[in-house]
Amino acid sequence: MLITREQIAAKVAQMGERISNDFAGESLVLIGVLKGATIFLADLARQIKLDTTFDFVAVSSYGNGRQPSGSVRLVKDIDRSMEGRNVILVEDILDTGLTLTFLMNLLQSHRPKSLKVAALLDKISRRTEPVHADYVGFAIPDEFVVGYGLDFAERYRNLPDICVLESGAESR
Ligand code: IMP
Ligand code: MG
Repeated sequence: MLITREQIAAKVAQMGERISNDFAGESLVLIGVLKGATIFLADLARQIKLDTTFDFVAVSSYGNGRQPSGSVRLVKDIDRSMEGRNVILVEDILDTGLTLTFLMNLLQSHRPKSLKVAALLDKISRRTEPVHADYVGFAIPDEFVVGYGLDFAERYRNLPDICVLESGAESR
């Protein structure tokens, strides 16, 4: 186990408070990146005391395993224009940065009023793109993690804590 549910809850509450202060008096759109960010978004949204709506995007970058394929493809676009809105892109984990770079470009083209990124986890040492998250939960080492929305081949998303995938766990 790398990060417990209690540690996650405390950090998400802090992040929600910061966002509520930073955008005081404004409305917000949280855009979740399916499917990994769903649990984080659900918890974070309930810690934000502002007029808040949700939207979702889906991208495919990883195959069914640990390695990124290098290219990002949009599988599901947002439902409404983000023109003039305060947008926070909600990601489970920032790894190479390819996904985030792609999504930031997509959302910038909507001409939002502001565009920020909230990432629960950040694997800084893996970054190949010059992107950063404005709100980061935990910086983690280069380990493959699962739980709290994060998957390995679609499994383990429902684990309440964030755990390092053991080598060998793939075949179980
Ligand atoms: P990036 O485009 O390399 O930054 O990758 C971001 C995406 O890769 C995340 O949204 C995750 O879906 C996936 N990913 C990266 N590292 C991990 C991990 O340790 N566990 C599970 N998924 C991961
Ligand atoms: Mg994934």
